Amino acid sequence: MKPKSLFTRLLLSHAVIILVTMLVLGGMFNYLLQHYLANRLQQQFEKNAQTLANNPLIRESIALAADDILDNVAKQVSQSIEADVIIIDSSGTVLASSEKGVVGEALNREEVKNVLAGQTYSRWGGTLLGTPSLTVGNPIKLNNTVIGAVFLDTSIKGFQANLFSFRLYILYAALMALVLAVILAYFLAKSISRPILQMNKVAKALARGGKTEMVSYQGDDELGALVNVFNRSITEIQNTLVEQHKLEEQRREFVANVSHEFRAPVTSLQGFLELMQDGVIPDEEKSKYFTLMLKDIGRLNRLVSDLLDLARFQAGQAKIKPVALEPGLLASEVVAKLTPRATEKNIRLLTEFSQALSPVLADGDRLEQILVNLIDNALRFTPVDGWIKISIHQGEEETCFSVADSGIGIPPQDLPYVFERFYKVDKARTPDKGGTGLGLAIVRELVLAHGGTIDVESKSGQGTVFSFTLPNA
Ligand SMILES: Nc1ncnc2c1ncn2[C@@H]1O[C@H](COP(=O)(O)OP(=O)(O)O)[C@@H](O)[C@H]1O
Ligand SMILES: [Mg+2]
Repeated sequence: MKPKSLFTRLLLSHAVIILVTMLVLGGMFNYLLQHYLANRLQQQFEKNAQTLANNPLIRESIALAADDILDNVAKQVSQSIEADVIIIDSSGTVLASSEKGVVGEALNREEVKNVLAGQTYSRWGGTLLGTPSLTVGNPIKLNNTVIGAVFLDTSIKGFQANLFSFRLYILYAALMALVLAVILAYFLAKSISRPILQMNKVAKALARGGKTEMVSYQGDDELGALVNVFNRSITEIQNTLVEQHKLEEQRREFVANVSHEFRAPVTSLQGFLELMQDGVIPDEEKSKYFTLMLKDIGRLNRLVSDLLDLARFQAGQAKIKPVALEPGLLASEVVAKLTPRATEKNIRLLTEFSQALSPVLADGDRLEQILVNLIDNALRFTPVDGWIKISIHQGEEETCFSVADSGIGIPPQDLPYVFERFYKVDKARTPDKGGTGLGLAIVRELVLAHGGTIDVESKSGQGTVFSFTLPNA
């Protein structure tokens, strides 16, 4: 069998409950109504019979055997109460009847005997006059002796017709209530099943990895609470998925970048080696090729050690041993080391700090690595005859280092990315192909590991300023 939807089941169960309730209530109401009406009719006729039996005129007329008077009375009463009236004497002989002829014989002997013995009598559904009727009988007594009896017989056709139309009303009312209730049940079932169906849809969409909207139900009932929890979970899952996706992307990009960076030197090494193997290169040129090959190998070396450095930082394994050290001294040493390269390009290396600064909390080798990296960049991206200025400013809590140059600058749209791994502003125009694009990423990790911050400001064509802070000792 096909599984029924929640909606159908809710609607069906509601309809069944409503129907059963209606049937039970309708049945009960019908039963009570019928009994009430029947009892009323019966009591009314019993009272009529009693009143007639107690009527002095009738008593006297029986005693005097005045059949004419009795006949008249019977006819009049019959008209006013819409029933046949039969009066018999103590021997059972009919004295008067509003419906001449048939009546007397129709009365059951046994019943007549009972009434003449002093009992009252009521009977439903007899067919005294050919139609279903209500028959009541009452003894007529004079001085405690039964001298006769009065019987009333009324057709219950009218009563049945009344009952039938009452039943029709009940049925109409029940049908209307049923339709209303089913409509209400329909909307109730819809309101319950809709959010559940929606949750189903959202969950499926999520499972397929697609973007999904939230479930819109907003009730403050249990379903609303469930939808709330569901929506929150969906948001969390989606965020996690987005995060995962980003990480995945980054990893892929990283691998692609690494492969790309390795390819150039490896390809060129292979080329040179093949040329040498084929004996194409004359002996006197070999040393030139060795120099080129050493350069490639140096580049590979730098790449590997940069990558290792970065990996260690990202794994949190980098060993930083901060000690109190005088920053001016260390900066002067770095400047001294790089002065030959600056002189080569006729770049002035300026310093703006005293030699007696208060100590900072830093790992000496790492601080040197930071400064060398920044000044190396400045040297590479500053044309001949330019200048580079290294400044140190000390505050209460921290010391700010900056490396400014008069170089080519970094376009504003590239500024946010320069600290990212492998990011190079313009690969084609980078003057020295030696760069890996990892330097600034490492510098940032180093600064952050010291508890400092790093920043860059630049104007295309006018120069760049990298500044970072380190905590004071
Ligand atoms: N002082 C600077 N002036 C201009 N551009 C710079 C400077 N420093 C860095 N950049 C840009 O940022 C990029 C990333 O620098 P870095 O991470 O040190 O990599 P690499 O030096 O290996 O190219 C450089 O390729 C360059 O485009
Ligand atoms: Mg660099």
